[in-house]
Amino acid sequence: MNTGGQTSSILKNKKIILGITGSIAAYKAASICSSLVKSGAEVFCVLTPNACRFINPITLSSISGKKAIVGQYSNEEKISHISLSQSADIILIAPASANTISKISSGICDNFLTTAIAACYCPVIIAPAMNSCMYENQIIQKNIDILKNTGNYFFVEPGTGKLACGSEGKGRLAAEENIIAAVSDCIMFSNDLKNKKILISAGATVEFLDSVRFISNRSSGKMGHELAMEAYFRGAGEVVLVSSASGAELPRDIKFIKVQSSNTMMEEILKHYSDADITMMAAAVSDIIPVSKYDYKLKKNDDIISKLKFRENINILSMLAEKKKKGQYLAGFSAESGENIKNTVEKMKNKNIDIMVLNDISRNDIGFESDYNEAVIISSNGDIERTGKNRKRIIARIILNKIINDLK
Ligand SMILES: Cc1cc2nc3c(=O)[nH]c(=O)nc-3n(C[C@H](O)[C@H](O)[C@H](O)COP(=O)(O)O)c2cc1C
Repeated sequence: MNTGGQTSSILKNKKIILGITGSIAAYKAASICSSLVKSGAEVFCVLTPNACRFINPITLSSISGKKAIVGQYSNEEKISHISLSQSADIILIAPASANTISKISSGICDNFLTTAIAACYCPVIIAPAMNSCMYENQIIQKNIDILKNTGNYFFVEPGTGKLACGSEGKGRLAAEENIIAAVSDCIMFSNDLKNKKILISAGATVEFLDSVRFISNRSSGKMGHELAMEAYFRGAGEVVLVSSASGAELPRDIKFIKVQSSNTMMEEILKHYSDADITMMAAAVSDIIPVSKYDYKLKKNDDIISKLKFRENINILSMLAEKKKKGQYLAGFSAESGENIKNTVEKMKNKNIDIMVLNDISRNDIGFESDYNEAVIISSNGDIERTGKNRKRIIARIILNKIINDLK
């Protein structure tokens, strides 16, 4: 992420929550707040009760021009942790104490700041500041990794040098210019897909044989859901997710359409395809379907074997490739036992598909049901990019980075 020095125009009119915690570096938050305000941002300061032992909220209210928030239960001005955090473009915690980082990574919501963070959908930038032993503590590092792996949290590395406690080491709050640059970069990043309509399919299709039996597959829908979350996180104008899995944890703004069979999946995809800018077909659509579906339960002694006949299923991806208009971007997903690049390249041949994301389903540590994946992104021009093993959210980011780059 690089803003090329356009910080002021990027931050103009952006709504930023500046979280301040109980660190000796809390006094530096006044200057950070002032820089953000000067860049045109609307800054809401939220202090943990312990932060008030280091800096007076009045200082931050005066600099930001908005009453600094401390109390979890003192919303006289109707500013609730939910509405404030869900309308913010960015939450910046500077300085972030070891205590607050660890609380966020465990989902603890015991003050206005930690509660607002648990409720937000926007990127959260964390600038840690603490004694070097605390920073290097294995548990604190594990908590930092948990947050980094979710894909929603970005860290501004602390500096190395003389610390307030007298010792030397890593833990000084990063330089103000680095923190402001990280905020600008993150705002640019979270606008990457502005005004774009993103259409995603996810999960395993379910094809009924009779009133109780069906054929399906092990796809959990997690990859497609992470693609939807990442597209939403990056400011997409509209995100439509057609999925056979549950949409329980998705933001309300993502249009979630629950489907079961490949036929209903195709119908819903087609309804949204013609004006979609980017379509990502992450669903595992059954290759075969029963010729007829019996609306009663077939009996064992009812010649069940001869009644079950299958035919090749429609290929939704090929259908979309045929209908694809100039300017539309189409990504297909393929599941192969082993890293069968040749077979995936074959699937793309003469089709109007921009990229195929190849998943090796023979491994137990990634793929179906797992939160992790490792994919190979194959472009229509033959270029190959490996994602490495990562959480599915990070894989979703790598895929969208590639698409956004291709569209430039
Ligand atoms: C003088 C003093 C300085 C402190 N500086 C830091 C610090 O820089 N970083 C940190 O993580 N904790 C620091 N602490 C400890 C935190 O204040 C303590 O962990 C507190 O619970 C943090 O609360 P909060 O995360 O809710 O703001 C300091 C404590 C004292 C007494």
